[in-house]
Amino acid sequence: MKALVLAGGAGSRLRPITHTSAKQLVPVANKPVLFYGLEAIRDAGIREVGIVVGDTAPEIRRAVGDGSAFGLDVTYLPQDAPRGLAHAVLIAREYLGDDDFVMYLGDNFVVGGIDGLVERFRAERPQAQIMLTKVSDPRAFGVAELDGDGRVVALEEKPEFPKSDLALVGVYLFSPAVHAAVAELKPSRRNELEITDAIQWLIDAGHRVDSTVISGYWKDTGNVTDMLEVNRLVLEGVEPRVEGEVDAVSELIGRVVVEPGARVAGSRVVGPAIIGAGSVVRESYIGPFTSIDEDCAVIDSEIEYSIVLRGASIDGVGRIECSLIGREAEVTPAPRVPKAHRLVLGDHSKVQINK
Ligand code: G1P
Repeated sequence: MKALVLAGGAGSRLRPITHTSAKQLVPVANKPVLFYGLEAIRDAGIREVGIVVGDTAPEIRRAVGDGSAFGLDVTYLPQDAPRGLAHAVLIAREYLGDDDFVMYLGDNFVVGGIDGLVERFRAERPQAQIMLTKVSDPRAFGVAELDGDGRVVALEEKPEFPKSDLALVGVYLFSPAVHAAVAELKPSRRNELEITDAIQWLIDAGHRVDSTVISGYWKDTGNVTDMLEVNRLVLEGVEPRVEGEVDAVSELIGRVVVEPGARVAGSRVVGPAIIGAGSVVRESYIGPFTSIDEDCAVIDSEIEYSIVLRGASIDGVGRIECSLIGREAEVTPAPRVPKAHRLVLGDHSKVQINK
């Protein structure tokens, strides 16, 4: 069995972070979300992975390399434009050959890995196997309709009037039967070849499509809320570890990771939280569910339930919560007079100001 990992796409819903970085590389607990997927694939016993890449190919290649760091053998499959998930299968035809494969969307996060799903597919041998999860707004997803026995009867991509609240999760298992389906597809309303349509084609052609309903799934939907939430989930599982320096007056409470070369002075850190290599935390409070990436500075400030990316600095600003702060961003106090906010915001930034 092979894996096909999708790491193209513009990430328009995660701007401005994705103006400068691939959405699959946004870190969760200081590790790119894509890496969790690659590890899940490896842990399911798969070695050969094709990664479909688009405009952000150089960055993805730099992060993942030949895959050996993950115990994987990675082949890159360039896609000229985001033409849909089924288009990715189409261009991977030669790479996939006649093997079964798991298709994994690189911006999806599946709690608990995929071992169970892969095992079930191997044992049951349906033509395709999908994962479903209940969501509050099914209109943003592919939606499945099940019959009384739990069999998939129909699928619809981003329906205006969803027939259920069961969304397709971005992990699919396929036998080579899918190639015939993909070859027959016509572009959808949003001008993409939809994998949802390919699965519907399989059902219509009388093939067996199994489904499992899972809970505990996350996907970036553009609001930072989901990212902060998965960051919280991952941090809840970290083992405390202090490899950097923590001075005598600082207090670390609960599960806190201080990575090598990080320095914590005169501060209180309440876990679960992670302070990345080379970062400085001084005279500050770091609250639960906070990930501070490498080479950041948090000085004379408070931050909680937030993600701070590499090289950012937060100095003398009071309390920050529920925030995603981009690479090399600087957050500083404004002069006392005039009493005004002074902003230099990148394109598509979002700011919430407490009046
Ligand atoms: C894609 C699929 C959709 C699925 C979703 C899961 O949507 O088309 O059926 O529910 O991934 O993440 P997209 O990310 O292209 O909006």
